Amino acid sequence: MNEERLRRVRDRVRPFRDFPVPGVLFRDISPLLKDPAAFRTLIDLLEDHLRASFPQIDFIAGLDSRGFLIGPPLAQRLGVGFVPIRKKGKLPGPTESVSYSLEYGKAELEIQSDAVEPGQKVIIVDDLLATGGTMCAACELMKRLKAEVLECLVIIELKLLKGSEKLKSVPFYSLLQYD
Ligand code: PRP
Ligand code: ADE
Repeated sequence: MNEERLRRVRDRVRPFRDFPVPGVLFRDISPLLKDPAAFRTLIDLLEDHLRASFPQIDFIAGLDSRGFLIGPPLAQRLGVGFVPIRKKGKLPGPTESVSYSLEYGKAELEIQSDAVEPGQKVIIVDDLLATGGTMCAACELMKRLKAEVLECLVIIELKLLKGSEKLKSVPFYSLLQYD
């Protein structure tokens, strides 16, 4: 049953060669977003996984920008709040920031300093883990706010880039894996 649901999601991810730079095989989730049945299946699978794994979650934190497409519907399903982690210069008020490198560049992530309280339990969500640079930076932001990261959760993991190793002791879960 889960295999069938996973297949429905996998069928809606398409590859593009040499985007956004030569040598990168880009995994595009646009067809998944465009198909309401497949998108619902995606959120069902993520909800089932989190409900089975964690008795208490305070927030879903999503990464700019594709994590914003998955985080809010998932948070709504679970009945918890959503916290945005944004690229530099987009959030008002006091912020924490961390710079990082990713599969095709460098960037800086920020979170509002009052986004979560010390000890609150957070799931960090994104569409994809490649080198793990982005997710690692998000974990560092949560550490600065003294939140507890229960899990880093993505739809797609690019196994060859070994991003999950960078996350060290933080639990990690991916729905679909690609070489
Ligand atoms: C992509 C993707 C992840 C990140 C993964 O985002 O959505 O956030 O790269 O790469 P990494 O594991 O090597 O860090 P991108 O920075 O391209 O921004 P976008 O979501 O705004 O397109
Ligand atoms: N972000 C980093 N690497 C990526 C890839 N190969 N496809 C889609 N998004 C990405």
